[in-house]
Amino acid sequence: MTDIATITPNPAVDLSTSVEKIVPVCKLRGTSQQRDPGGGGINVARVVRRLGGDVRAIYPVGGATGDLLRNLLDKEGVQSQTFSIAEETREDFFVTEVATGQPFRFILPGPRLSAEEWQQCLTLLSRIEPFPRSVVASGSLPQGVPDDFYARLTRIARQRGAQMVLDTSGPALAAAVAEGVDLIKPNLREMRELAGREPNDAREWEAAAKALIHSGKVATIALTMGHLGAVLVTCDEVLRAEPLSIAPISAVGAGDSFLGALLWQLASRGNLEQSFRYGVAAGGRRAVEPRHRSLPARRRRASCAAGCHQSGVTDSTGMDVFSRAADENS
Ligand SMILES: Nc1ncnc2c1ncn2[C@@H]1O[C@H](COP(=O)(O)OP(=O)(O)OP(=O)(O)O)[C@@H](O)[C@H]1O
Ligand SMILES: [Mg+2]
Repeated sequence: MTDIATITPNPAVDLSTSVEKIVPVCKLRGTSQQRDPGGGGINVARVVRRLGGDVRAIYPVGGATGDLLRNLLDKEGVQSQTFSIAEETREDFFVTEVATGQPFRFILPGPRLSAEEWQQCLTLLSRIEPFPRSVVASGSLPQGVPDDFYARLTRIARQRGAQMVLDTSGPALAAAVAEGVDLIKPNLREMRELAGREPNDAREWEAAAKALIHSGKVATIALTMGHLGAVLVTCDEVLRAEPLSIAPISAVGAGDSFLGALLWQLASRGNLEQSFRYGVAAGGRRAVEPRHRSLPARRRRASCAAGCHQSGVTDSTGMDVFSRAADENS
């Protein structure tokens, strides 16, 4: 049985380059070029794979860009399960301005999916044998796909007894939560949209997460707060993580790394606190990583574990969870 299947309805091939300075009209000569797989669920699958986990990525492929995406994932050893679409798979374009270190991210609209095409994805998921233990739906929905698409996936996952994990935003997130999901990983913006109000401080953010848990629609919320760290809330515990003390290069994709490492640990060990530590470590690590540098699985795991010991995960009394465990055992 595959532990984790990720679903990315709007994947991309990300083309990255650097230019000395961005100025209008002139030809801006890139000093490098690199193509990488992109999109929420694709990124989560890559992280799980790099850590040595068992994962498959489900996504649509269209045209030459779709073929390229599949080839890039094959090279990384990520198992793909694809369905064909008529329009071309999305491309994104990232430029780093060397003079300032500023990243510029151009996100293109991507393909429009027909009703038959997005329904193929539902059929594909429902027919997987043996069914994965966790289904992770992540990223934005492409044009043509209804807001309740993730809610429909959720229904299938739950009918098959799998854990449903969601990382998305806006109406797609709200519709799936209304269906009832196991774990969500909102960032502050996504949590604000979901709560329908603007919390003022850490306590209020936690209260908003707890209110959602008590509504019975979500079992676990991993609220990531960028440089402010993260909080993990279930019906009977609250774990807080200080951010790692780092000098970030770019936090783009930190949420996907957080989620990939958390799910990989949950799948292999099942311990929520330890998984949360790994998530925080991987998110921080991503933020300091030069773009597109890839470590072998063994070194990546070691690096994550090192960050893990630094990440101060505390419970609702403010104590480090692991020192609390030590107190109880003494
Ligand atoms: N500047 C930072 N310093 C320390 N840790 C960071 C920083 N940025 C991100 N992290 C770590 O990564 C986690 C996830 O980051 P963030 O909340 O920015 O996710 P996100 O907004 O979902 O990102 P994305 O959608 O780009 O993947 C944070 O909870 C934190 O642990
Ligand atoms: Mg995110």
